Amino acid sequence: MNRVLSLCLKVFAVALCSTLFTAHATEQKSAAADPAKGATLYSGGDPARGITACIACHGAEGNSGIPQNPKLGGQHAAYIKKQLHDFQGPDRNNAIMTMIAKAMTPEDIDNVAAYLATQKATANVAKVKETADLGRKIYRAGIAEKNVPACAGCHSPNGAGIPAQYPRISGQHQDYAVTQLTNFRGGVRNNSAQMVTISKRLTDEEMKAVSDYIAGLR
Ligand code: HEC
Ligand code: HEC
Repeated sequence: MNRVLSLCLKVFAVALCSTLFTAHATEQKSAAADPAKGATLYSGGDPARGITACIACHGAEGNSGIPQNPKLGGQHAAYIKKQLHDFQGPDRNNAIMTMIAKAMTPEDIDNVAAYLATQKATANVAKVKETADLGRKIYRAGIAEKNVPACAGCHSPNGAGIPAQYPRISGQHQDYAVTQLTNFRGGVRNNSAQMVTISKRLTDEEMKAVSDYIAGLR
């Protein structure tokens, strides 16, 4: 009986120890995210490893000028990391980003996220006057009769999001936002149960109106 007990204690001690050690190692790894290395990778890529320079598509300091390519400057680090890991798996599909993300190590991802989170989010403007009221109403109040919650409830009233949980969407390109809402609705992007549910309740017109409103938020 005593031998069983002492064996048990030993096993328990090893398990406890390795848990503490792993927790410590994980902490050290994220504390070591290096924004300067992230900046280098962002601007130059690493062609030898198949990583195209991010700047070519996402612009200087994450301020993409191309409506199909998302702005990344000032985005929360946790959100950037989640997306790059999701592109590596089946939950978010995009031919270009899947290829690039698969070539990145967890350290590359931590570093580039740390760099982007410290850049400035740049402003954009709403363009479609005719749908401004509809867009504002959806964003601030949702659509009660269709059970669509107010976007502001999660993405915050000015679209800055809430770090670690809800991404910044203010100033994002209209075209990119519409594509994402369409992708959530159609199963191309399946990495958020909340957004999949919400997007299925929106028509194309409502997606366009709210995306144009989001572009003007700052
Ligand atoms: C050839 C163009 C191209 C290059 C190069 C590129 N991207 Fe992208 N990136 C895109 C496009 C297009 C999307 C939108 C994908 C979609 O619709 O899901 C995107 C999406 C993303 C997203 C998701 C943003 C969000 O708001 O959800 C992140 C993060 C990202 N890219 C990071 C990077 C990083 C880091 C690099 C460099 C290592 C990089 N990209 C290189 C075109 C590119
Ligand atoms: C219950 C919380 C919640 C509500 C309400 C909500 N969202 Fe989201 N939204 C999220 C989360 C979480 C994500 C990030 C999903 C992920 O991890 O990929 C997201 C992502 C997005 C994205 C993609 C951002 C990017 O950079 O790719 C868009 C666009 C978006 N939401 C628009 C909206 C709109 C429009 C509404 C209102 C109709 C809305 N959201 C309401 C939680 C919410």
